[in-house]
Amino acid sequence: MKKLYGLFAILSVVAIAYSCKKSSSSSSGTVYLDLPTTAYTYDVTSYPKKQNDHKATLGRVLFYDTHLSLNNAISCGSCHHQTSGFADNVAFSVGYEGRLTGRNSRGFANITGTTVRFDNLNSQSVLLFWDGRENVLQNLISRPITNHVEMGITDFSTMPEKLSGLDYYKQLFINAYGNGTITTDRISECVAMFVASITSHSSRFDQFMGANMSMGQPSHPEVYTANEYAGYNLFINKYQCQNCHRIFTSYYTIADMVDIGLDQNYNDKGYGTITGRSSDNGKFRTPGLRNIALTAPYMHDGRFKTLDEVLNHYSHGINNSENLSRLLVDGTGIAKSFNISDADKEAMIAFLNTLTDYTMITDPKYSNPFKVK
Ligand code: HEC
Ligand code: HEC
Repeated sequence: MKKLYGLFAILSVVAIAYSCKKSSSSSSGTVYLDLPTTAYTYDVTSYPKKQNDHKATLGRVLFYDTHLSLNNAISCGSCHHQTSGFADNVAFSVGYEGRLTGRNSRGFANITGTTVRFDNLNSQSVLLFWDGRENVLQNLISRPITNHVEMGITDFSTMPEKLSGLDYYKQLFINAYGNGTITTDRISECVAMFVASITSHSSRFDQFMGANMSMGQPSHPEVYTANEYAGYNLFINKYQCQNCHRIFTSYYTIADMVDIGLDQNYNDKGYGTITGRSSDNGKFRTPGLRNIALTAPYMHDGRFKTLDEVLNHYSHGINNSENLSRLLVDGTGIAKSFNISDADKEAMIAFLNTLTDYTMITDPKYSNPFKVK
């Protein structure tokens, strides 16, 4: 083991320089890989511990490597920014050829939690993406790589050969697997391992709830200002937002497909595209709200720029759409208006801001290891 770390150290000191192939980039700097001499410790509780740190390290390099796109223009990290809770800060992200994605990039943290499966071992009906078209994290990885708008590699089986031409991968695969063979399964496993390792437990909300999180009773109410506490109560009790956004569970892994009445007519059928049932049209997977202050713009199409605009939707913007959730319909069968006052809005936004985890978004083990000299 010592020997491996030694090699690894040399590898990173030599800094494995390769020339920057970005044709559009004006910077003439050299890109190099900056990895710690001893692998970071990653938190992947949902997977056997053995060698996780090296697999996640390799996954981190792959996640930020533009060679995973056809023209070496973009990486996973181009659309999933650590500082934005792994979401993108635009409504639609720019793919490898400059075309736009059809939906807003989703952020992630605690993605495997209790429900989303890491691999095929026990595939439950838990759903990933806005429309739930994938339910196994490891199988998700090849999707953006092969997507014609996102990364454009039409045949994923060509990826190992492409990566074997990059000198820094050999040692990383040896560290993770004991030999340097590159396979599509290993690529998927390691990127999934890295994505699953992105965990968040250090927001002020975590401090507020403390040990009583699962019971939904704050152990440290003193952590909040009066306004934040008021916002918390409004969110839970008055407006019952947690009926869908279940913040006491693993806030990222909610699989409920819901139509919240964004439009009278559906431009994007969402879950209905996947099931083929018209009763599922307009339904999208309820987002977790962790780091929500950082993941603007909001909704599956990024239509709202601020949390204030989101609250205006719930306050008086809900449409009477065909599949509108019953939770958003009043006693007479029409769309509810929550009529949220300005004071209530302000308090709820103060509360939503406490869901930001500054430790996670600055943690070097999740950051881009490619640096420019
Ligand atoms: C061109 C931008 C782009 C690139 C590149 C990209 N993504 Fe995404 N990603 C998105 C968008 C947009 C969505 C939401 C799509 C949807 O749900 O329909 C998304 C969704 C996801 C999700 C789902 C999160 C959830 O909770 O459902 C994961 C995980 C993910 N991407 C990981 C990756 C990984 C890993 C890579 C690299 C192999 C990658 N992405 C590359 C734009 C991108
Ligand atoms: C009936 C279930 C339901 C209820 C109740 C509900 N939401 Fe939502 N919420 C959703 C769904 C589903 C989406 C995503 C909709 C889409 O993009 O099509 C969403 C989106 C959001 C977003 C944007 C998330 C993102 O990542 O873009 C915020 C913020 C939000 N809701 C806050 C609230 C607040 C605050 C309340 C209470 C006033 C509330 N929600 C009540 C289901 C619900």
